[in-house]
Amino acid sequence: MKVPAMEVMGLIFLVTISVFVRTGEAETKSFLINCGTNSSANVDGRKWVGDFAPDNNLTLSSVGIEAASTVAFSGDSIFASLYKTARIFTDSLNYTFRANQGNYFLRLHFHPFSFQNYNVNDSSFDVMANGLKLVSEFNVPGEISHKNSISQSSESNSSSLPLVKEYFLAIDLDVIVIEFNPTKGSFGFVNAIELVPVVNTLFVDTVSRVGGNGANSFLNVSKRGIRNHV
Ligand SMILES: *[C@@H]1O[C@H](CO)[C@@H](O)[C@H](O)[C@H]1NC(C)=O
Ligand SMILES: *[C@@H]1O[C@H](CO)[C@@H](O)[C@H](O)[C@H]1NC(C)=O
Ligand SMILES: *[C@@H]1O[C@H](CO)[C@@H](O)[C@H](O)[C@H]1NC(C)=O
Ligand SMILES: *[C@@H]1O[C@H](CO)[C@@H](O)[C@H](O)[C@H]1NC(C)=O
Ligand SMILES: *[C@@H]1O[C@H](CO)[C@@H](O)[C@H](O)[C@H]1NC(C)=O
Ligand SMILES: *[C@@H]1O[C@H](CO)[C@@H](O)[C@H](O)[C@H]1NC(C)=O
Repeated sequence: MKVPAMEVMGLIFLVTISVFVRTGEAETKSFLINCGTNSSANVDGRKWVGDFAPDNNLTLSSVGIEAASTVAFSGDSIFASLYKTARIFTDSLNYTFRANQGNYFLRLHFHPFSFQNYNVNDSSFDVMANGLKLVSEFNVPGEISHKNSISQSSESNSSSLPLVKEYFLAIDLDVIVIEFNPTKGSFGFVNAIELVPVVNTLFVDTVSRVGGNGANSFLNVSKRGIRNHV
């Protein structure tokens, strides 16, 4: 039986989150951000706050070009309200979260769609977290078709499926700055940002579960850590 990609992702989220909830230790706040909108989205039983909503405990350094949205979303409809909006930017853009020190999973959600004259195939950008580079000259449709080409499955092979990038971050500041830098002459976008505190003792276990689908990256920060660049 074939399982659609989004269902696999949803399942992975549930497994991961239930681990956190069961420990009862996740006192530190999670951030679930719906990008490119004032509106909150209730997705999968969780509330995602608009990145442009008041009192969302995050600061945007600029608004980017304009809130982008699409009507087309062919994936699991549960995720539609999250993935049909994006923030598109042609200049450097910071998402600054007031957070507690500690370890976090950062999940960046990308659902590639073109908006006005921004052809998503031409997007390219770097992402940093508190000065540590997570990805360089990232082209989302390119990564999706690369994943499709190495996957032997015959499930949906669309280059417009959402992609979730996951990182482990050790944060030693009271602030988490997610910095997006478009490649010169290009642009970047992001649909949703998720910062979930990690309980140390569960770290290894959780990573092995999450990494299982090959869609996630594990950032080994045991040596490098995240440094204060302020
Ligand atoms: C969000 O709300 C502000 C103030 O009400 C408004 O100026 C802005 O256009 C809205 N943005 C979006 C994306 O709806
Ligand atoms: C922002 O932070 C305050 C204080 O921790 C909290 O009460 C509030 O729920 C947060 N707002 C959101 C949208 O998470
Ligand atoms: C984003 O944050 C970094 C690190 O704090 C800073 O160096 C950079 O100037 C900021 N960029 C913008 C556009 O505010
Ligand atoms: C982006 O590239 C894909 C695959 O090459 C193509 O099918 C799609 O039409 C392109 N999208 C745009 C907006 O050019
Ligand atoms: C998916 O698309 C890639 C190229 O984008 C192709 O190499 C691969 O064979 C396709 N996989 C299937 C199962 O159709
Ligand atoms: C992380 O890096 C350390 C030091 O280089 C290494 O010993 C360890 O095996 C790495 N862990 C993983 C999971 O890659």
